[in-house]
Amino acid sequence: MAEKKKFQAIKGTRDLLPPETELWNRVEQTAREVFGTFGFGEIRPPIFEPTELFARAVGAETDIVGKEMYTFVDRAERIVEADGPKPIANYGAFIDSVSGMFQSGEIPRTGINEHAIREMRRRWDRFQNWRLSPPEQVLSDEQGNDILQMIIARYSLQLGYEISLRPEATASVCRAYIEHGMHALPQPVKLYYTGPMFRREQPQKGRYRQFYQIGAEVLEMIPANTDPAKAIGKDAAVDAEVIEMVMTFFARLGLEGVKLEINSIGDRECRPKYVELLRAELLKVKDKLGPDSQRRIETNPLRVLDSKLESEQGIIAGLPKIADHLCANCAAQYKEVKRQLGMRGVVYAENWRLVRGLDYYMRTTFEITARGLGSQNAVCGGGRYDGLVELLGGPPTKGIGFAIGEDRLILSLQEAGKGGATQGRDVFVAWMGEKAQAAAIAAAQKLRAAGFRVELPPAEQKFGKALGQADKLGARYALILGDDELATGLWTVKTLADGSQAKMSEPEFFEMLRKGKALSS
Ligand code: HAM
Repeated sequence: MAEKKKFQAIKGTRDLLPPETELWNRVEQTAREVFGTFGFGEIRPPIFEPTELFARAVGAETDIVGKEMYTFVDRAERIVEADGPKPIANYGAFIDSVSGMFQSGEIPRTGINEHAIREMRRRWDRFQNWRLSPPEQVLSDEQGNDILQMIIARYSLQLGYEISLRPEATASVCRAYIEHGMHALPQPVKLYYTGPMFRREQPQKGRYRQFYQIGAEVLEMIPANTDPAKAIGKDAAVDAEVIEMVMTFFARLGLEGVKLEINSIGDRECRPKYVELLRAELLKVKDKLGPDSQRRIETNPLRVLDSKLESEQGIIAGLPKIADHLCANCAAQYKEVKRQLGMRGVVYAENWRLVRGLDYYMRTTFEITARGLGSQNAVCGGGRYDGLVELLGGPPTKGIGFAIGEDRLILSLQEAGKGGATQGRDVFVAWMGEKAQAAAIAAAQKLRAAGFRVELPPAEQKFGKALGQADKLGARYALILGDDELATGLWTVKTLADGSQAKMSEPEFFEMLRKGKALSS
């Protein structure tokens, strides 16, 4: 007999179950409604994409791409067939087949593959020429070496594309914008998404390996000959409206303790100069920093500002602030973003240390925290990323967006007692007798068609047991159908909250249900 195996959800993943999923649905539905009022449409990008897309967009050196992606090689079907030519005489056909796949792009057109195919071809041609000479019993050393080198080249082939489960969706949205020529649509293009993302992080409360985001992006192609200085006011208004939208969404949900922090991290002109200044200052205090920050002086000095290490806080407080080193355009935009937020009644705090962990940002960045999550666990992060679409091969385009961690949002709502979702029933139909079952089925059909939640037991139950079950399920009413009710045509209705019981006609019961529903919603 097969060994009994207990399967469990993989570390960092979890099942979302009723009644909690009701809250998830409510949150997503509210997002759709609020984002809709701001003119956003939904995009559903795929869950996996070429690894290269994320490496380019998010940055190969970031934690997300460098350490946390779920990456695998997607092998083409035909490769599996062509795999492992045996006997050696079949190598010629194998090389032809792989060459064809390389030409058509079915296997990656990389330098490694090009070299491997050339090497196999060269060795094979020579090996064949040797075979044309009179057969020998034993392979010469050179022949043996050719075979060996051919096999080594074959195993260095990259037989498929590297793909990754998406760690975030901004890269996918930009890829889709380019792929579908969305720059030809009326600009800006406003899109939102909801769905799972994957990062191999150390799981803990509010941090999972499969987690969910609700995000939105605004993309706008930059027409030729635009004066960047003239667009600053408009861009700042877009930034402020995007932030206003997410704050409106949180307010609609009743999220508590919401704190918005904003910053500007400059652009291609001013940031590199600031980073150099920061590096020079950090080198002066290198000995007082921990190993992570010491390493970051070289790789990414901005990330030192992110440090939570207690011993480094005093040092960081004395470092030069980017706000004092912004170029004129960045400074003007940052000022205007703040004015625009003020006009919209959005309360914010400035945090010059807010740098974000993804490479694509420029100018406006922001993060939002909420009750019950701890200051390190943002419920939302976002910012401006002009130039990302171009980096991915599209036209010059501006971008701004955010992503909300839905798991954390739900946690915060639950912590504040706003998650009280019950998957109750409006009506529990308690029936006894064969004739009553037919009447119960008919009643359930009518009630469900009218949109009420109905539980219809599949087998006859004693009334006492039925009422107990109705109570456990959180039903509001029990509709009792037995011989009596069938004979008189009047239904017995028990209100479970107070135990009262009354006889009424079918239309009267529907009326009562509707009134109750209107009161509770
Ligand atoms: P992010 O800051 O990497 O930004 O993620 C956004 C939010 O996703 C975080 O604030 C957090 O709430 C949630 N989150 C991230 N990792 C986890 C995790 N392991 N478990 C639970 N929740 C998590 C982005 O992803 C950008 N694409 C946002 C953006 C859109 N910027 C511009 N447009």
